[in-house]
Formats: sequence, structure tokens, C-alpha cells
Amino acid sequence: MVRINENYKKLQSSYLFVEIARKISEFRKNNPDREIIKMGIGDVTNPLPQACLKAFHEGVDELGSTKTFKGYGPEKGYDFLREAIAKHDFASRGTEITADDIFVSDGAKCDTGNFQELFSPDCIVAVPDPVYPVYVDTNVMAGRSGKARGGRYGGFVYLEGNSANHFVPAPEKELKADLIYLCYPNNPTGATATRKQLKAWVNWAIAHKALILFDAAYEAFIQDPDIPHSIFEIPGADKVAVEFRSFSKTAGFTGTRCAFTVIPPACQIKDKEGKEHSLKELWNRRHSTKFNGVSYPVQKAAAAVYSREGQAQVKDLIKGYMNNASIILREMEEAGYECTGGKNSPYIWVNTGKDSWESFDQILKEAGVVITPGSGFGLCGQGFIRISAFNSPENVEKAMRRMKKVLKKPC
Ligand code: MLT
Repeated sequence: MVRINENYKKLQSSYLFVEIARKISEFRKNNPDREIIKMGIGDVTNPLPQACLKAFHEGVDELGSTKTFKGYGPEKGYDFLREAIAKHDFASRGTEITADDIFVSDGAKCDTGNFQELFSPDCIVAVPDPVYPVYVDTNVMAGRSGKARGGRYGGFVYLEGNSANHFVPAPEKELKADLIYLCYPNNPTGATATRKQLKAWVNWAIAHKALILFDAAYEAFIQDPDIPHSIFEIPGADKVAVEFRSFSKTAGFTGTRCAFTVIPPACQIKDKEGKEHSLKELWNRRHSTKFNGVSYPVQKAAAAVYSREGQAQVKDLIKGYMNNASIILREMEEAGYECTGGKNSPYIWVNTGKDSWESFDQILKEAGVVITPGSGFGLCGQGFIRISAFNSPENVEKAMRRMKKVLKKPC
């Protein structure tokens, strides 16, 4: 008799953004004439940069001719893209990442979710709280957690983020974990980690023979020149970290789908007999077995990000979203709310002091604005909301005017 994976029964609720989409569609059904401004899920609103669009078209045209047609591509991604990534994203920052260390994929969500497959089911997982729910849910599905109780899963180590640590938890001396997920600039709080803070994590991972799964999907939003863009800017990280990157937010690829994972050759993981295995080779085995590569036109479009025009256009795109972020931050702070993020990240994390889902419902019903409830990211997110800067400046201004009126009222 076929039976389900029992671990799925432990999952606490539906995926956060699915639940939000359900609430929006219910609201739309009941209020067909109300205008909704979406600042919930971090989904980009501006079109693809012209350089990417042009390359995308060219890629499609190449598929239309026998001479230039392409079938299956390399599972790891085409050399032209991986070489461009290595040169522009890593060599330019003095890190020793080569094209061979890069695996192109269809999303950082899939990569961060799938990567845990490489590790033993009894590995102890540490996650910050609040946290991007994909890291947690995929480890629950894989059986690394106990049952959920009081909003948390047994067996996981939760690293509390709060105003006191500015949502950048530090490795405590007594912390015991094998896999640790870090995300900077952070989703959901928008917090960033300094070089010193990342160094502390790398040193902890080296001392504890742990692995850091570093999600850098929002690195392109960093404005402050002192903040590292990659964990590999920290000495020793190549032995204890993997990095996930994405074109989704950087270049508007949320619908187009293209991302990559970086695994340096120095990253070696032991089996139960103590024999070392190359993590890069393990991921290569998994990736080439379960994935057939991102489509050629999409990879061409992604490579165009690194052209001269592409770089200028992406810079403009990010400037526009960061301008929105500064409007949100200014308005929320002026309204008297304590905020994190918004300076090096497209997310603004606002302490409303009210139940997060009640705030969500109230803001949707009364202001017609969608935000993300902080408690959807973990217990430490209760009382917060996350506002995304992905929209037009006009909509952002309008949303802020409407939200400021509503937030002051009781739910
Ligand atoms: C978010 O809003 O947290 C992100 O858009 C989700 C994602 O990238 O999957």
C-alpha cells in the first residue's frame, strides 16, 4: 500500500505566500471594485532590462534555425553564463570562485530547498527566527524535525533575531548545529551582516565542522560599500559555506527564472566512516540527475546582465526599488514605528506592536494594501509586518498614505 511521507503531516500550515494569495483572491472576490496595491511577496514589477530582453529574443531566434538550434544544454549551465558570473560577481571582489564552482538553476528557492538532500537526516539544522520559510519547511519534509509545538518544530535550533541584536543573531558559544542557514541582506527583516559578524559565523562553522548555507539573493541591493556581498569575501568561508544567488530580484527574473549556487572545491564533507567527499561533486551528482538545465534563451538573457548596458540598466532598476524602500522607511519612521532594513535591502521590517495576521487583514481590508505578516516567518516575527519595495513609486506613496491612516487604529 502506498503511503505518504509522514513528515508532511508535521507541516504547520500551507506555504506562507500561498496563504496570502488565498486571502487576496478572497478579498478580490468580495470587493471586485477595490484597488489593491501589492507590497507583500517580493515580486518585481518593472520589465526586464532592455539588454536582457534583446538577448532573450536573440536566444529564441537561435532556436528557430537548424544551424543555431540547441537541445539539452549542460546541466550546470552554459559556460558563457558561468564565466560571466565568476568574473563579474566574484573575481571582481577578490574571491577565488571559478566558473566550475557555479551551478545555474531555475531559482534560489529551489536551490535552498533542495540542497539539504545532500546531508544525513540526523544533521541538526539551525535557522534564524524570523526566517524565509523554505529553509524550515524543506527540512521538515526531509524528516530533520520533530513535531511542531507552539509555533516551532522540535529538533531545530532557532537563533532569535530581535531589536537588541538588530536581527543579526550571533553564534553563541554553546550553539550545536551541523547546518546553518543565513541570509544577508536578510529576508524578511532587511538586516545586513557586517564583515565582522560574518567572520564570527565562518569561524564558528570551522570550529564546529558545520556548513553555512548562505542565501545572498538580495546582495545587489547593498548600497553601503563596507557590507560584504558574498560569504566568500570572508577568509576560510570556502571550506565551510555554500552560496545561493538569483537573478530574480536583481534583474527582474522572478517569472523568467534563473539563479545559481556556488560551491568551492575546498568544501569537503565527511561520511559516517570519516571519509571526505567534495560537496561540489555531490551537488553535481544531484543536479545532473534531477535537473536538465535552464533554457538557453533565459541563460542568454541572464548573461546580458553582465554586459555594459545590462549593468547600467540593472543599476537603474535597483535604484528605483531602493528609492521606494527609502520612501517606505521614511514614512513608517515618521509615523513612529521602529523599522529595520530598507537601506541595503528591498524589505522594510516594521514593528507595529499588533498581531501580525490581524495587521495583515486590517491593512488589506481598510487600506487595500498587501503586506506580509511577520509571524509568517517565525515566532520572533510576531508583532511585525514586512513591506516590500517592489512596486511603482506612485503606488508606494499611495500605499503609505493609506497605511498610515489604518495602522494607528486598533485592529
Ligand atoms: C519573498 O517575498 O519572501 C520572496 O519573494 C519569496 C521568494 O523569493 O521565494
